[in-house]
Amino acid sequence: MEKLERIPRIPLAITPTPIEAVPRFSKVLGGPEIYIKRDDNTGLAFGGNKARKLEYLMADAKVKGADVILTEGGLQSNHARMTAAAARKLGMKAVLVLKGKEIKEYQGNLLLDRILDAEIIVVDPDGSLTRREAMLKKAEELKARGMKPYVIPTGGSTGLGALGYVRCAKEIIEQSKVMGVEFDWVVHPIGSGGTQAGLIAGKKLFGGNFKVYGIAADNEDFEPEIKKIGEEIGKLLDLELTISPEEIFLNYDYFGPTYGVPSEAAIEAMKLLARTEGIIVGPVYTGKALAGLIDLIHKGKFKENEKILFVHTGGAPAIFGMDLIDRF
Ligand SMILES: Cc1ncc(COP(=O)(O)O)c(C=O)c1O
Repeated sequence: MEKLERIPRIPLAITPTPIEAVPRFSKVLGGPEIYIKRDDNTGLAFGGNKARKLEYLMADAKVKGADVILTEGGLQSNHARMTAAAARKLGMKAVLVLKGKEIKEYQGNLLLDRILDAEIIVVDPDGSLTRREAMLKKAEELKARGMKPYVIPTGGSTGLGALGYVRCAKEIIEQSKVMGVEFDWVVHPIGSGGTQAGLIAGKKLFGGNFKVYGIAADNEDFEPEIKKIGEEIGKLLDLELTISPEEIFLNYDYFGPTYGVPSEAAIEAMKLLARTEGIIVGPVYTGKALAGLIDLIHKGKFKENEKILFVHTGGAPAIFGMDLIDRF
């Protein structure tokens, strides 16, 4: 895959991230053997999946001469925090356009955004402009002031960003060979679709035998987005690449009560992994995906003789921005 190597990329993520067996966690569940891909350890101000996407997005920003990066997310956005860190590392400013009523307390990711000295714009969901409109308006203002803004959409989930997870799929295939472990399923959370699209494209391109199973953190139809990102990846790599519906496994049973609010099942999942393996997952994405994995094992969706790789995409800093003490 020569073309992939020719697309500009700035190394920002600490890779390969380790794959860890979690035997004590697996034993409690009494089902398949579970492994965890530690993408929470990618670096860039506390790690997470966005580091891999930002390698390509920030390289593009640099090629285009950008001096300020704009992106959008929720108030506790991991993507925004990591984008701010990447911008700083490359000597650029960051503007984060975050959806919310008001900032009551700078904690969790918001505190990290402050430490990184990102400019924060809060967009009221009931206001006249959408988050995206507010971001594009700000980009125009910056341009008028002679700056060179570069806009990264939600979650960095474009074909270019998703190339980070094409590389991750290759990494998983290589690690699996060295470990002598064939994964049947790669399970991960979904927030905007880039991770899933990249993993599916990558496993097709590099000959992985695993199926990619996404557990949604929000009630949005991610399938069209995943297909679209797949096409964009194909164009970037000069390939006919189609992600077909049979390759997309999306589960919407675990995002409740609503996006961003930790479910009781997520809290239980966080406790179980922490108390059996000493690994902390986040309350918004990884905790809910892990709750889904646990429940699906209990329901027999994943079989005892199968091997599962759970991608820990990060997000733990959000726990410090929530009042969770009574729930543990
Ligand atoms: C910690 C974490 N995990 C998973 C995701 C979802 O990944 P994607 O946006 O590629 O679907 C996000 C962001 O949206 C995230 O912050």
